[in-house]
Amino acid sequence: MSEGKQVALITGANKGIGLETARQLGKLGITVILGSRDLAKGEAAAAKLRAEGIDARPLQLDVTNAADRDAAVKFFNQHFGKLDILINNAGITLETWGVNRTSSTPETVLQQTFETNLFAPVALTEALLPLLRKSSAGRIVNLSSILGSLTLHSDPKSPIYSSKAFAYDASKSALNAFTIHLAHELRDTRIKVNSAHPGWVKTDMGTDAAPMEIVDGATTSVALATLPDDGPTGAFLHMGKPLPW
Ligand SMILES: NC(=O)c1ccc[n+]([C@@H]2O[C@H](COP(=O)([O-])OP(=O)(O)OC[C@H]3O[C@@H](n4cnc5c(N)ncnc54)[C@H](OP(=O)(O)O)[C@@H]3O)[C@@H](O)[C@H]2O)c1
Repeated sequence: MSEGKQVALITGANKGIGLETARQLGKLGITVILGSRDLAKGEAAAAKLRAEGIDARPLQLDVTNAADRDAAVKFFNQHFGKLDILINNAGITLETWGVNRTSSTPETVLQQTFETNLFAPVALTEALLPLLRKSSAGRIVNLSSILGSLTLHSDPKSPIYSSKAFAYDASKSALNAFTIHLAHELRDTRIKVNSAHPGWVKTDMGTDAAPMEIVDGATTSVALATLPDDGPTGAFLHMGKPLPW
């Protein structure tokens, strides 16, 4: 048992924003558990962080797999007896950026996208909530996107007006709804629940066309994971600034 020391679970942490978030939290002295659907990739990523002096451990976790989620609960019960920070970072997009094909979105694309981007983080959060309640300052960060903003999508003057990928965008709008609803339910607890827009970041998902480096793309997740007690809950933020829902 590691009493006292904070412990964080970051899903989809073997690469991209998730790995960098784990690195930055680890450098703050937090034990970081790297959820990875491919354990070998998770082990390689954790080894990299350990070489940088970070207390990092991999965890087999395909967020869409109920048995993996149950095993994650057991892992935290057994090794820590609590969870301080949950970062629902794993996400997918199955659509082509820049081409609006809303009316021909295959049902399978909608189902798979919602499975990973909404149903899995909701189920994982519900399963881990008893452990988050045992933390002195539980923090839940849902990796959303500016593309989940209905306000901006419906505004012809907004920068995302022409960037429509229906399944992905709707999954992030729904994830934002989860943030608002869970934050309301937990408003009288020490747990804070927020949505993060990392920015458009150079990752496999964001592509090389993105303007932001990964090191900057992780800063919103890290800030929301380490919010002080008087910080916001039920908010949608990018680098400290609120985004419209
Ligand atoms: N990059 C951007 O510009 C941007 C902008 C807004 C929001 N976001 C959000 O930020 C988050 C991280 O994105 P990223 O750019 O770092 O993407 P990425 O480089 O594609 O990494 C995604 C991570 O999620 C993992 N993953 C996917 N499905 C999973 C599953 N079923 N179970 C467990 N892990 C799974 C991937 O694992 P594998 O390696 O096994 O595929 C990978 O580790 C996502 O939620 C994304 O929607 C990104």
